Amino acid sequence: MNVYYYLANYHKMEMMYKMSMYLFAQKYFNNFIHHNFDMNDEKILHKVKHTYQVVNNAKYICEKLNLDELNTDIAMVIALLHDIGRFTQAKEMQTFREDITSFDHATLGVKLLFEKNEIRNFVSSSEYDEIIKKAIRNHSKYIFDENGLSDMEILHCKIIRDADKIDSFRAKTVDDIYTMANIYAEDIENSLITDKVYNDFMNEKTIVSKDRKTGIDIWISYIAFLFGLNFKCSYQLIKEKDYIDKLFDRFEYKLDAKKMKELKKKALNYLDQKIRF
Ligand SMILES: [Fe+2]
Repeated sequence: MNVYYYLANYHKMEMMYKMSMYLFAQKYFNNFIHHNFDMNDEKILHKVKHTYQVVNNAKYICEKLNLDELNTDIAMVIALLHDIGRFTQAKEMQTFREDITSFDHATLGVKLLFEKNEIRNFVSSSEYDEIIKKAIRNHSKYIFDENGLSDMEILHCKIIRDADKIDSFRAKTVDDIYTMANIYAEDIENSLITDKVYNDFMNEKTIVSKDRKTGIDIWISYIAFLFGLNFKCSYQLIKEKDYIDKLFDRFEYKLDAKKMKELKKKALNYLDQKIRF
């Protein structure tokens, strides 16, 4: 069976069984990654796991927001495709961390999906292309500009940004730090916090990549994702899973333990306040 025959029948299948947009996209996604990437590569497996966790988080947020079936479907498709550029990046650059030195993975994802219309293999209708494109492009930006976006586009940008960050918390409590971020535990444990990073955290700000100078700065910048979330239910999930305690307690900070204690207190208070109101 050649690929065109397969795809033609695949689209028919979608109509016959009234498959959800997400399920249809998921089937092609699984084929896509198995055919294009080494499934024995740790970084690729890490990315597959992350993708499906982000899908679950997006579904959770939609349920908590009482969104309808269509919006839930769109949010899950966006989550499935949001890091597609990361797979290529991991294969070619062997790093996830530095979007500064390698190509920005969100832009790469949009290019991969839309430049040659690859998106049609994942989603048969073009009706939601703009939402998908804008949500993927904005999902990892330090701050995303709402100007010129419709309410629906803003909503989906916010959902993917939260869903992605929540899973970043999960992954960083358990996954090998070098596989995730190209730094070693010793780099985190034996370094000092840069003043700017400390002050931004204490002022409830997310950390700008260029301000990170040391291993511990990088670690703190991941925890500071907490300050950029959009929905109360995202904070509730983080509290429920105890991610903040787990992240701070993961390493032994040999040079800046006192400051890390202060940052932890700040983060836990911030979380409680977000849940209360
Ligand atoms: Fe992601």
